[in-house]
This record gives sequence, structure tokens and C-alpha cells, in this order.
Amino acid sequence: MRRAVCPGSFDPITNGHLDIIERASKLYDVVHVAVAINKNKQGLFSIEERIALIEETCAPYGNVVVESHHGLLVDFCRERDIPAIVKGLRAVSDFDYELQMAQMNRGLSGVETLFVPTSPTYSFLSSTLVKEVASYGGDVSHLIPPVVHRRLVERIAERAAR
Ligand code: PNS
Repeated sequence: MRRAVCPGSFDPITNGHLDIIERASKLYDVVHVAVAINKNKQGLFSIEERIALIEETCAPYGNVVVESHHGLLVDFCRERDIPAIVKGLRAVSDFDYELQMAQMNRGLSGVETLFVPTSPTYSFLSSTLVKEVASYGGDVSHLIPPVVHRRLVERIAERAAR
């Protein structure tokens, strides 16, 4: 079994993430999506909600397993015998930090990182921007899957009613 991991916060999953996961799913037998638990960062969606949205949107690919993880990504990889991390690169601005992480991860455990150039359609896209635009009433329906859009609009309305 050739395995790879697509790690991230996925708060929430966007069409940009899906593009990378779908392409990875064609290159590997199993793609693990690792949803990072960051206790210092309060997300808009809980880890369980993020996992459910990823599972639903990645179901058509047929070989994607979604799990949460805390701690080092290299430990997640070691425990599951995953030799490769697949990351999307949107622009040069992503490169410095991604290169540092890739080199650190390889130095820690030998795990390789493969960079996939993001589709130009999504090169500007991030979960943070989607949340910001949506919170001011902007239309982000073309940037996230329909189920994520529904949940995002609901969540923003819940927060506003507090
Ligand atoms: O979607 P994000 O927030 O850009 O994802 C970043 C993530 C979760 C992939 C990265 O922070 C990560 O791998 N965290 C796990 C902790 C870890 O291994 N840190 C050392 C990286 S060299």
C-alpha cells in the first residue's frame, strides 16, 4: 500500500484543499487527511465537525481516511507507516515556511514532502480568507463545497446571534 498524508487545520476544508487531496488520491493507494489539533487556536469548527465535512466531501475519491492528530506530524506518519507528506503550494509566499517544515520533518524522521502546485483557480484561497469574507456577507459559495457553505453560513449566523 502506497500511503501519503495531507495535513492541515481544515477550518473548514476549501476547494483548494480538495484539489490537492483529490490529486493525491490518484497518486497513492490511501490518502490520510490529518486534521491538526491546536489547543492554542480556537477554530470556527470543532475538530469533529471538520472531520465530518472532510469525510463527506472526500467520499467520492474512495481512498481517503480522515483522522485528527496532535503532536508532531512525523509521529502520525511513523505510527501509520506513511513515507510521504503531500502539500499544496499556492504562491512563493508559501514556499519559505513549507520548505523549513519539509526539511525539519525529513531531518526528524526521513519522511519526504511532495509539493503540488495549487490549481491557479485557487491560488489566492485560504480558510482564513473564506471565513473573513463570509463573516461580512460576501459570497464564497464558489470557493467551498456546498455542504461546507451551508454549515459556514449557519455557524456565522449562530455566532452573530450570541
Ligand atoms: O492548515 P495549516 O494550519 O497551514 O497546517 C499546518 C500544519 C498542521 C500542517 C503544520 O502546522 C503541522 O504539520 N503541524 C503539526 C505539528 C508539527 O509536526 N510541527 C512541526 C512541523 S516541522
